[in-house]
Amino acid sequence: MADDVGPTEWGEGPGVGPWQGPWPDDPRYDPVLLRDGDTRNVVDAYRYWTRDAIIADIDTRRHALHVAIENFINDANIGAVVRTANAFAVHTVHIVGRRRWNRRGAMVTDRYQRLRHHDTTADLLAFAADAGLTVVAVDNVPGAQRLEQTTLPKECLMVFGQEGPGITEDTRKGAAMTVSIAQFGSTRSINAGVAAGIAMHTWITQHADMSRAW
Ligand SMILES: C[S@@+](CC[C@H](N)C(=O)[O-])C[C@H]1O[C@@H](n2cnc3c(N)ncnc32)[C@H](O)[C@@H]1O
Repeated sequence: MADDVGPTEWGEGPGVGPWQGPWPDDPRYDPVLLRDGDTRNVVDAYRYWTRDAIIADIDTRRHALHVAIENFINDANIGAVVRTANAFAVHTVHIVGRRRWNRRGAMVTDRYQRLRHHDTTADLLAFAADAGLTVVAVDNVPGAQRLEQTTLPKECLMVFGQEGPGITEDTRKGAAMTVSIAQFGSTRSINAGVAAGIAMHTWITQHADMSRAW
């Protein structure tokens, strides 16, 4: 495991050195990390654990929240969306459109996050219908209701648009509701990655079991 540390993983600094004392025989521990130390960007509870063990543990606690971001023009914000989704134990991040996206902003969190690709918005909407998810489009478009005054569905798929065009017409038509984040300044919109973080956290404040947060 330690030999596939990614370029944006913490190389030094935060982390722990080699395991001190008798080695644990718990199979969740990675012998290479026990030997060399663990400087990955993971919470303390997962120190020295294998990646598979970490994913399996998060899988037991993933939320009913899915998020999707449209990637028809190669949006640079997807990494930030994936990182925040990982932090909130979002069930799956769906990428719609282009398969390629810049992973740098994800800071390696994509290794622990369930990701799924859909060629088109129609494919995404069909997935949501099959999975029993209510689709919530997030954009500051006419007719949107205030996120701050909305009770979000628990089984939820939030869809975010791209810098420039925003959400597609297909998403707007296919969503059960569209919500916007209240703004007070001069800019027309906020960064899509920031908007995604605000919207995900709103769902967390409404539906997550806070006693299970780190
Ligand atoms: C930079 S915005 C572009 C589109 C925007 N409708 C406009 O008027 O310019 C890109 C994406 O960020 C999210 N976003 C940005 N500001 C938002 C806001 N105030 N409320 C909800 N979503 C927002 C949406 O998902 C949007 O599709």
